[in-house]
Parts: sequence; structure tokens; C-alpha cells
Amino acid sequence: MNGIMYERIGGYRVSDMRFVAAFDVDRRKVGLDLAKAVVTPPVAAVLHTDVEPTGVAVEPGPLFDGIGGNLIDVIEPHPTSLEATIDDVVDRLAAVRADVLVCLLPTGATDAVQAYARAAVRAGVPFVNATPEPVVHEPEIAAAFAASGVPLLGDDLRSHVGATTLHTALIELLQSRGLAVVNTYQLNVGGNTDFLNLADPKRAAGKLRTKRSALHAAGIDASTVSAGPNGFVKYLGDEKTCFIRIEAASVLDSNLVLDVRMQVEDSPNAAGVLVNAVRVAKVAAEHGHAGSVHDVCAFLFKNPREGATDSVGIRKFREYVDSVVQD
Ligand SMILES: NC(=O)c1ccc[n+]([C@@H]2O[C@H](COP(=O)([O-])OP(=O)(O)OC[C@H]3O[C@@H](n4cnc5c(N)ncnc54)[C@H](O)[C@@H]3O)[C@@H](O)[C@H]2O)c1
Repeated sequence: MNGIMYERIGGYRVSDMRFVAAFDVDRRKVGLDLAKAVVTPPVAAVLHTDVEPTGVAVEPGPLFDGIGGNLIDVIEPHPTSLEATIDDVVDRLAAVRADVLVCLLPTGATDAVQAYARAAVRAGVPFVNATPEPVVHEPEIAAAFAASGVPLLGDDLRSHVGATTLHTALIELLQSRGLAVVNTYQLNVGGNTDFLNLADPKRAAGKLRTKRSALHAAGIDASTVSAGPNGFVKYLGDEKTCFIRIEAASVLDSNLVLDVRMQVEDSPNAAGVLVNAVRVAKVAAEHGHAGSVHDVCAFLFKNPREGATDSVGIRKFREYVDSVVQD
């Protein structure tokens, strides 16, 4: 299938993955079969395939700071989410014997994201933090995963071929030829709820931090680089467009300027990476790899504990996948 890097990771096909539980707080989604919830507004993702009922009803998750900023205007919390607790999440994960918990909460929901991570480690379930909120970078949480023998993957999923990956790959290309990056930016616009949420600078702070971290790992000083979500344009829906400019100094200080525009469907672009991350998390648990799995995180995430250039990140990821196949 296009965009799927590995038919099997540690023996697992994408088709071996199945949903056993789901948590949300949106009044329109709680109680629905997951197959219906994923096409219920304000979801903007385009349906590319028929989704059969899963038999899994969306349960109320504990709200914490999940709905804030601009999301308050479009998502009304289900009343049961105001009473739900992290203990409920721990009990549910244990009852369904979940193999992996994927966290796709809104950016800026630090308390909620960290609470789900704590629930996962208490239940002994590997955790994939797709959000920019600090989890592998939160020492107490990372230590709890390591001490409990549970794998932890994060922070902030890289899209499969997203703005960050394109940007860092281009920087590596120029640097490999000895050019110096003088100025650069990365602007992103889109129309889904992620972009609506990120239009609030207070909620978006973590995203700027993780994008700069990825650029820093690519080898440039990114401390003042503009790299973020830069606009919510509702009619674009799930279509995301990034504009990248790199100004570089080449031989005899001659100028090189790159202007790149890339347009992608945002949601499937995350799926290509998530099907790798979920299978790796499962296999890491089977192999007793506890805490942050450094060897895979630089490829899968924007802000891992140990960052790397694109070429080093993908090499380490492939070596890890090859090593678990051989075991
Ligand atoms: N291409 C991508 O989609 C992509 C790539 C990389 C990172 N991410 C990150 O993944 C995260 C999710 O992105 P998205 O596009 O799916 O966002 P989204 O806005 O579509 O979905 C967020 C969901 O979280 C729910 N929620 C809020 N608080 C909750 C709580 N306390 N418990 C349970 N559910 C809660 C919301 O109701 C909503 O359904 C964001 O942090 C985003 O930056 C997405």
C-alpha cells in the first residue's frame, strides 16, 4: 500500500492492529461507535475508505485542560467527562488489555496529556505521545516508564512527509555540500481543528518549541526561526500547505535561495507514521525496552530526547526494525 514503509514490524501487519478502547470529551462523540466518531464534526478528515463499525464505543475521558482557547467555541464537553477520572482510564486500559495507548489530544493540553501518560504507565501500557506536550521530556514521567519496564515514544509526531521532515531534509542536503544556512522560515496554514487550536498563541507554544527542536537537531541555530502554524483558513479543511524558504551561502559566498510549497492531507499524513509507532511500541514492550526508545524516536517525532539529522534518524529506525525482525 502506498506510504506504508513496512509490511511487517516484528511480525505485525497494519491489518493486525485493532481498536479496543477510545476516549474523548466531545459531547457529539462520547457514546458513539468509534467508526462514527471519526467522521463526526468538527472532524475535517476526508474519508478514503469504508469504515466498518468497530464495536468500540467512545468513552468519556477526564477533561483537564483538553478544551481551551478557540476550541471552546466548537467543542462542548460531554457532562460525563467532567466526572471521569484517570483511575477510570487505568481500569479501562487494564480491562481491555490494551497493548498501546496513542495520545492525540489538542496541543496545549499539557495537564490532560501528562495525565493520560501517567494512566498508561500505571496500567503497564506503552504510550505514544503524538502531541508536543512534554512527556518524554518530563523527567518524572519518563522515569516512571523506565522504572516500570514500559516503553515510551514521543514527543510530537512527525507527519509522514510533513513540513518538519521536508525542512530538515533540505537543510541536511545543503549542509552536506558545505553550504551555510543564513536565514530560513517554515509557514503552515490549514483548516482543521488542530489549526483552529494552534491559532491561539498560548496553545501553540509547544508546537513552536518542538519544530525548533527538530531544526536544531538538523544542525542550525533555530532559536529565532519562525516555524509554526501560521494561519487557520477554515475552507481548507484537512488540506495543509507549508511554505519553506531557505537562504544559504555557497561557494565564494554566492547566494542560494530555496522557496518550496508543499500541500498534503494532514490526517492521513499522520497515519503513515502512527502505524509504525504503534507497532514499534508493541514490539519494544515484547523485547523489554523500557522508557524512551531513543533509537526510533528521532525518526518518528519532532522532539525526541535524543534528536538527529534525517539520515541518522531513519538509519537508526531501520536498524531497530531490522533487529526486532531477527530476534
Ligand atoms: N498530521 C497530524 O494530524 C499531526 C501530526 C503531528 C502531530 N499532531 C498532533 O496530534 C494532536 C492531535 O491532532 P488532531 O489533528 O487529531 O487534533 P483534533 O483537534 O482533531 O483532535 C483532538 C481530539 O482530542 C479530544 N480531546 C480534548 N481533550 C480531551 C481529553 N481530556 N480526553 C480525551 N479527548 C480529548 C477533542 O475532543 C478532539 O476530538 C495535536 O497535538 C497535533 O498537533 C498531529
